[in-house]
Amino acid sequence: MAKLLWGMIGGGEGSQIGPAHRLGAGLDGAFDFVAGALDHRPEAGREYGQRLGLAADRAYGDWREMLEGEQGRDDRIDLVTVATPNATHFEITKAYLEAGFHVLCEKPMTMTVEEGEEIVGLARETGRICAVNYGYTGYALVRHMRAMVARGDLGKVRMVVAEFAHGHHADAADADNPRVRWRYDPAQAGVSAQFADCGIHALHMASFVIGQELDRLSADTVSCIESRVLEDDAQVNLRFDGGAAGRLWTSSIALGRQHGLTLQVFGEKGGLRWAQEQPNQLYWMPLGGRLEVMERGGPGLSPEADRASRVTMGHAEGMPLAFANIYADLAEAIRARKEGRDMDPAADLYPRAEDGLRSMAAVFAVAESGQGQGVWMDARPPMFR
Ligand code: NAI
Repeated sequence: MAKLLWGMIGGGEGSQIGPAHRLGAGLDGAFDFVAGALDHRPEAGREYGQRLGLAADRAYGDWREMLEGEQGRDDRIDLVTVATPNATHFEITKAYLEAGFHVLCEKPMTMTVEEGEEIVGLARETGRICAVNYGYTGYALVRHMRAMVARGDLGKVRMVVAEFAHGHHADAADADNPRVRWRYDPAQAGVSAQFADCGIHALHMASFVIGQELDRLSADTVSCIESRVLEDDAQVNLRFDGGAAGRLWTSSIALGRQHGLTLQVFGEKGGLRWAQEQPNQLYWMPLGGRLEVMERGGPGLSPEADRASRVTMGHAEGMPLAFANIYADLAEAIRARKEGRDMDPAADLYPRAEDGLRSMAAVFAVAESGQGQGVWMDARPPMFR
């Protein structure tokens, strides 16, 4: 099968998320990394791109130059990943969709709900894929949780409890460090800090697993470090459109927590518990039964989990392999389009622009509810009301 061609914007040397994308995209051999505008400093981006193996004429200085260069080629890239800082996502994603490229954009997809609606409209109009990197939904056992809920193992879902709490911004003495400070500054970060950065991962995962979209929410937001304008901790109560209730806690001052993404789902017939720091085990408690630990790669899991599992049971799989599953879904989606066939439904799980938009509506609802003493807000984007 011919390889798909892949390009990347952002993710330069020393960036946090660039390496995980390169590992994820490269894992199955479906994508060849052939183009990049990797750094906000053109020379550094060109030089690093070539060090990673890009040809000199495809190691671009910036994303506009890359757009122009790739548009004119017969062997233009099939997919571009946008892994730059948040405020640039909208402009870059919009330009590449308009030029007919498929895009995988980092989260948050945009800075406003209006921009999110524009991206959804554009993806629909152009028929291009616009995926959003809620990459943790690529974990095999997260996909298994979703399959268990969908086939009715839990009965009706009553409650979902999601957390994404870490302690990496807990040092008050370091709050003025420019690398930290901008995240809590509305001029640079927008209306929300911790919820927009981490809370939306937990919220999206909750929605993905229970198969319900967020309807409304009530938020208690706190700046535990006084100099911060935006929240570093939030507790959000949720109501979903299928009747489930939810609780979501996100924090950046939770000392002792590392990555801290966890999900618990409680239904009429059983409960599930999963934590990203131990992603190869899923805890299942059926009503009236015994607690069971499911191992990734073990027998009797769902086709979705089997497809997302790469090495045999007992060997740890982690985050870059979860990202690889998003890339594998996208490779299948792009190939199916090229070959004029339906895509494998087990691969049709990658997060969409619609998910990115729903997150933005939730971000604004959290910010407003937080300022309004926890008043319940409609959390749906106007487009989906
Ligand atoms: P970072 O600050 O570590 O790296 C950003 C990189 O983008 C740098 O190499 C920088 O030179 C480059 N860059 C900046 N402006 C650019 C431009 N205009 N053109 C080309 N390159 C440019 O940031 P980090 O932490 O890697 O985050 C990037 C994005 O990924 C953010 O939107 C963040 O929210 C998201 N992210 C997502 C994660 C996930 O799990 N899905 C985890 C961490 C970050």
